[in-house]
Amino acid sequence: MPSALVIHGPNLNMLGQREKRIYGATTLPELNNMLVAEAATLQWDLSIVQSNSEGDIVTTIHEACGRYECIIINPAAYTHYSIAIRDAIAACNVPTIEVHLTNIYQREEFRHKSVIAPVSVGQISGFGPYGYVLALHAAANLMGRSPALQSQ
Ligand code: DQA
Repeated sequence: MPSALVIHGPNLNMLGQREKRIYGATTLPELNNMLVAEAATLQWDLSIVQSNSEGDIVTTIHEACGRYECIIINPAAYTHYSIAIRDAIAACNVPTIEVHLTNIYQREEFRHKSVIAPVSVGQISGFGPYGYVLALHAAANLMGRSPALQSQ
């Protein structure tokens, strides 16, 4: 079974309580349950981690090398400035999909830049928790295992 690693960055453990007007009412466990259900439908093995620490995320990415077909990451605030996470993704060579709950380009200017985007296969931004489901489908499509139309 193909496998994907989902990494949730800092403050995403606070979903459902945190700035609900921006991030909505869905909690992280609810989001993860939705993802696990979708992965089961797609027949993907899914691991999910959340960390508030940059170093832990870097180590998690290193440990993912050769173990997963795909990484789906919401680096949260680290998106905008973590060269360490960017370099870990570049070093690891596992196709990585960047996800944001909100449309970062509609928000404050400091959120418009992603240092992760240049080392990602693609970015999904602005669809709320459903963005992670889209990312799973994108991963399946990328691996040529999607029942949907192949992109190449
Ligand atoms: C976020 C957007 C980031 O700018 C922010 O720091 C987050 C969440 C999103 O999912 O929309 O924590 O990555």
